[in-house]
Amino acid sequence: MSAFLRLAALLAFVPFIVAAPAATDCTGTISSLDDVDDAVECTTVNINSFTVPAGETFELDLATGTTVNLLGDITFGVKNWDGPLFQVSGKSITFNGNGHTFNGNGPSYWDGQGTNGGVTKPHPMMKIKISGTYSNVKVLNSPAHTYSVSNPAALVMSQLTIDNSAGDAANSNSDGDPAGHNTDGFDCSTTDLTIQDSTIHNQDDCIAINKGSNIVFQRNSCTGGHGISIGSISSDVTVSGITIKDNTITNNDQALRIKTKASATGATVSNITYSGNTGMGMRKFGVLIDQSYPDTLGTPGTGVSLSGVNFVGTTNSISVASGAKRVAVNCGDCSGTWDWSALKVSGGSAGTINYSGIEDFSQ
Ligand SMILES: *[C@@H]1O[C@H](CO)[C@@H](O)[C@H](O)[C@H]1NC(C)=O
Ligand SMILES: *[C@@H]1O[C@H](CO)[C@@H](O)[C@H](O)[C@H]1NC(C)=O
Repeated sequence: MSAFLRLAALLAFVPFIVAAPAATDCTGTISSLDDVDDAVECTTVNINSFTVPAGETFELDLATGTTVNLLGDITFGVKNWDGPLFQVSGKSITFNGNGHTFNGNGPSYWDGQGTNGGVTKPHPMMKIKISGTYSNVKVLNSPAHTYSVSNPAALVMSQLTIDNSAGDAANSNSDGDPAGHNTDGFDCSTTDLTIQDSTIHNQDDCIAINKGSNIVFQRNSCTGGHGISIGSISSDVTVSGITIKDNTITNNDQALRIKTKASATGATVSNITYSGNTGMGMRKFGVLIDQSYPDTLGTPGTGVSLSGVNFVGTTNSISVASGAKRVAVNCGDCSGTWDWSALKVSGGSAGTINYSGIEDFSQ
């Protein structure tokens, strides 16, 4: 190769150089959206209590290495639009919520229909696109889905509260149904994410892992919703290396679920580990692994390869309500040997398990 060709080949691989935001060692203070542009020039950003005008996103595009301190509660004005209400992006960020609240004013939107109908609800409420740490933040009453997480590098989210408990009751627009609907806690399509030591009370999945690898969900408490979910899995996605550990799941539809779409093709779900989870009062199933989503225990699809689903380590101990099934497994394309030696489910009645690769478990 001539020197010229070598140079040309080399240049072809030089990525665009994007100017990083100039990080200055100063403290910016935000008391309204007008302050944001100046404040994000600094590597310390303090946020005071204020109300975000209806129909606007409170968006922080932070310089690498920024520390954010939430010093008061943030309330979002109400408007029927897509959202998000809050978005934060940046690398190596330290986000300290200091126990303060983002209030989504959910009751002003809730009509029991979530994102399936009724009025338009801004969702997700909180879009997290940082690496680093994000901790001690409370979200009160999200209109629909609460967090969507797509971190650019490793992120640890800890000591968070999602309180949509007010959505359990019906309201004048919900026709007798719980007013909150589709209020997922965390929707994750990402890698290298840990969510821990958090409290979630909602009306849908506590966490839904739709895609990605190296995700840990541990020591969280999930109340009222649809449990800890892998999926729903669509076509051409890979999920692997997921650890669901030491969580407490109370009065959910099911404690632990894997749901793959019957229509999905070219997808792989593997290496899912459950350890030390405790569940009480499941309304439908203790554990549900179902390849027929959105049908429950319908005809499963064969386009999602599912393997390596293990209950190991500390016993997973789950009790279900009297009308519920303990464990149901509905496989279309399951493979390998699954070690279920650390699963104990009690109450209700046995479900149907139609996969023969499960070892060390009987219900
Ligand atoms: C399974 O995932 C865990 C992390 O959850 C990882 O440490 C391990 O190496 C993975 N195993 C395989 C066979 O990929
Ligand atoms: C599980 O049951 C479903 C529904 O009856 C059936 O379509 C599927 O082929 C079964 N899978 C296995 C592995 O037996």
